[in-house]
Amino acid sequence: MNLIVILGLFTSIANIFAEKFGFRVDKSESCALRACNKIYSNKINVHLIPHSHDDVGWLKAVDEYYYGLHEDVQNVGIQYIFESVLQALKHNVDRRYIQVETAYFWKWWQKQPQEKKDLFKSFVESGRIEMVGGGWTMNDEACTNYQSIINQFTWGLRLLNDTLGDCGRPKIGWQIDPFGHSREQASIFKQMGYDAIFFTRLSIDDRNRRKATQDLEFMWKSNDNFKDSEIFTSAMDGYYAPSDFCWDYLQCDSDAINDDPESFDYNLPKKIEEFAKRIDSYKKYFRTNNILFAMGGDFQYQAAEINFLNIDKLIKGFESSKKYNVFYSTPSCYVNAVKKANATFSVKESGDFFPYNENDHVYWAGYYTSRSTLKRYERVGNNILQAAQNLNAFAKLRKICNGSECEENIRSLREAVSTMQHHDAITGTEKERVAYDYSRILTSAIRDTEKSIGKTIGNILKLDNITEDVTLPLTTCLLTNISVCDQTMKDRSLIVIYNPLPKYATYYIRVPVQNGTYTLTGIYGPINFELIQHMNYPVDYPFDSSDIELSASDSIPPMGMKVYYLQKISNTSSAIEPTFLKENELIHLGNNKSKITFDSKTNELTIRKNQNEFQTKQKFMYYVSNNGTGDLPGSGDNITSGAYVFRPVNGSAAVNIEETGFGGLDSKVMYTKGDTMVEIIQQFGKYIVQTLRYIVEGELEYIEYDWVVGPLNNKTVDTPNNKGIEIIARYSVNNIKSDYFYTDSNGRQMIQRERNNYAYNNDSIEPVASNYYPVTSRITIKNSTKDLQMSVVTDRSQGGSSLKDGEIELLIHRRTLRDDHKGLEETLEEMEYGEYIVTRGSHYLITSSAASSRTERILALNKMTQPWMLVADATGEDMDLDTLKAKINFKWIGCKANGEQGLPPNLNVLNFEPWKDDTFLLRLEHIFEQNEDKEYSKEVSVELKHLFDPFVMNSIQELSLAANEFIRERITGDNYKVTLGPMEIRTFLVTFK
Ligand SMILES: *[C@@H]1O[C@H](CO)[C@@H](O)[C@H](O)[C@H]1NC(C)=O
Ligand SMILES: *[C@@H]1O[C@H](CO)[C@@H](O)[C@H](O)[C@H]1NC(C)=O
Ligand SMILES: [Zn+2]
Repeated sequence: MNLIVILGLFTSIANIFAEKFGFRVDKSESCALRACNKIYSNKINVHLIPHSHDDVGWLKAVDEYYYGLHEDVQNVGIQYIFESVLQALKHNVDRRYIQVETAYFWKWWQKQPQEKKDLFKSFVESGRIEMVGGGWTMNDEACTNYQSIINQFTWGLRLLNDTLGDCGRPKIGWQIDPFGHSREQASIFKQMGYDAIFFTRLSIDDRNRRKATQDLEFMWKSNDNFKDSEIFTSAMDGYYAPSDFCWDYLQCDSDAINDDPESFDYNLPKKIEEFAKRIDSYKKYFRTNNILFAMGGDFQYQAAEINFLNIDKLIKGFESSKKYNVFYSTPSCYVNAVKKANATFSVKESGDFFPYNENDHVYWAGYYTSRSTLKRYERVGNNILQAAQNLNAFAKLRKICNGSECEENIRSLREAVSTMQHHDAITGTEKERVAYDYSRILTSAIRDTEKSIGKTIGNILKLDNITEDVTLPLTTCLLTNISVCDQTMKDRSLIVIYNPLPKYATYYIRVPVQNGTYTLTGIYGPINFELIQHMNYPVDYPFDSSDIELSASDSIPPMGMKVYYLQKISNTSSAIEPTFLKENELIHLGNNKSKITFDSKTNELTIRKNQNEFQTKQKFMYYVSNNGTGDLPGSGDNITSGAYVFRPVNGSAAVNIEETGFGGLDSKVMYTKGDTMVEIIQQFGKYIVQTLRYIVEGELEYIEYDWVVGPLNNKTVDTPNNKGIEIIARYSVNNIKSDYFYTDSNGRQMIQRERNNYAYNNDSIEPVASNYYPVTSRITIKNSTKDLQMSVVTDRSQGGSSLKDGEIELLIHRRTLRDDHKGLEETLEEMEYGEYIVTRGSHYLITSSAASSRTERILALNKMTQPWMLVADATGEDMDLDTLKAKINFKWIGCKANGEQGLPPNLNVLNFEPWKDDTFLLRLEHIFEQNEDKEYSKEVSVELKHLFDPFVMNSIQELSLAANEFIRERITGDNYKVTLGPMEIRTFLVTFK
């Protein structure tokens, strides 16, 4: 038998299965439409969609959910769902099911015998199981970054294609649980070739308005930069079965249907009558004669017959109905029926679905910030993933690893970062012990990736005359944020920095060292650096933390590396110590480009550039959390701030921490001045320390606010009545009147926000929370007539707003003492090392002309895609400088665009990674929106053929955004020139000669 015959046999086995269960597979039709039921134009068509919502971690950790551990917390084992549903589908040919989260599907699939895989596949091919969503997780839409959303779909959909083929390609965005919905997510679905989006969580005010005008279903214009960006969107009333028709043993207690007329409890007619009422009352919100009920809920269908048997009876009960056509369906069948009904829908032209509020007091805006350190760690993990993917692609080109081995090197990190995108992971709405487990998963995946990285980097860098493998003992120091790194504390160490951007990047090396005198040697000899005594950390960590940091900066080539050798030459201390500022002393931070003065008395930073003077000020303040004890008139109030909800005490403004006993008394300012740098160190009260730096990187200039906040314990924080505390950093500027402010949508499109825009509700009683929006990468205020703009770029997701003209605020840390009743049943009081957690992070302040967001865009990209620093202990015998120099290059350039200068500033390589067989995945993006910069918003072209010389591209084929469908012919032409317009992302499958 040859291969074709074998493949043919498999397909026909699947067909036999399908036919056995009642369907003749018609290959010409999209698989999901093969089993759609007949629609009656003279009846109300009621689509019942059996589904299970399977969180990839929440109250239990991922594997606990899958296998069914910790049943005391939640009686859930996802593996049982697969088994039970498959059996149930065999019992009745009418039944349907949808499968959503690929993380669980993949866990299950890998361990199954062939017959069971064939069975599942046959159901997919016959349209009885529809794969919807299909990302590794159902990602959150507020705190996630576009790159990671795209990647988590790419990986999930790749596995579906590998296992289920074309029929496993989802066409439906199924985002039923995320807490509000972003425009960029809609745009990503559209670009991935999806037909529709379903979700449930939108503002109650918006929902009510849409109900009144039959606009729960609409066309969402998802992107102003593209011609065709509309996607059909359906806002469902919920994702649980209607009450009284919810039969699962989890969260349901409806009476079963008794269809035995002989029985005393015979209730079928009553049930039918009640369901008909449900249908009628819901139908009036919709424009076509189709409605959809999601028949399921969280972790349901572990004992699938409980649901299916009752739904079977319900359907049977309507069989003879002249008015209602009630049947099993799938989202694709529903969308198809709606399309065929020829209704017209309104278009949502702009904006998104944030903030999500359940009523006037419950705004789900706390989770934009909750678990601030986990949110940062996710960014670090993604950053390392991008760099590791690049390096493994280069390793594949150089045959350092081969075929699937190169992919295997990054598999666990791909999956860990994807897991982090889940709407109870990055959001911080999981239990504390589950948050620890996410950290464990990410750390262990980073360490997995590092197992091969020493060999990869060693061999990429090795000199041409070396024939044997060169392996460097490289690792990542994940605790440099608390000045811990064993390797750089040695007398000799090696530092390798890889820059994943396809252009030169400035990298600030900041590593802990011993007290002493050092030399730092790079490719061209000694490098300037300073040793500084850094600020103190507020907690005694159980690690060897150093007081001294080495600080240097260098420019790293496009997708290239530089190597440094750090050597201690004497014990003589040479660190610069901070000096206290004298009263009324001004410090100058600027250079000849900008004059920047810091006034310690007023905390004011005056920035003068291009004739403009910005007087900016930054304050740390806090809101007191509402702890739900009768703050509302009428009382009975149990609405509190918690992991999900942000609710400051009624009517309270933020308090400046300098004006409290725990702030002002201890506040002080110091500065550290070296030959090349000035740092200002501010201490606020007992729990905030901040370092200010003025940074110039090529054409970028900005101020870095590097803060350490915490621990928020009873010794540092004194809030009234034992209430929670929510810390903000507020930035103000003297000359920008700003009714509008702008926040990014998943780090990509900007969305205009209007303060106090209660479009549906005139007197919101939550003046702070109702104005809070997710800030994934930046928030901007501007005054177009005066041509002034101020932005803050963040290093992770945070909640943010502009509550007054000229002000920006970001919520950076929270400790709330009550559960907010969304199922978590835990307070948000994060502990680490036996103390309330401390968080460290950075804000980057930019003042500029309103005509250009150049600095913001480029800086946000640079912060998302930072160089990856790896270190090695170099005290070993064959690790002295001379031996290393005889073995490896201290500089290497991977991206050869524009004579090794790299791609233009508006163009980025979003992904370059090893893919199946001999292929590579290459994804390019234009990082500007139209009208954001006169020059950089223009279309941009690049010739790809020699991008990674000496490796020459051999073929290049364009794919849909998630790389699971070929969308255009092979790209031809001499040099594979491609062009990208504003915000465009193009994905290619490439091979090399
Ligand atoms: C929708 O329009 C098409 C084409 O005009 C027509 O064939 C079809 O009957 C219409 N369907 C309904 C339900 O009106
Ligand atoms: C999907 O998988 C099949 C079978 O492995 C493969 O031939 C096809 O190229 C894949 N599709 C894409 C878009 O990668
Ligand atoms: Zn969920």
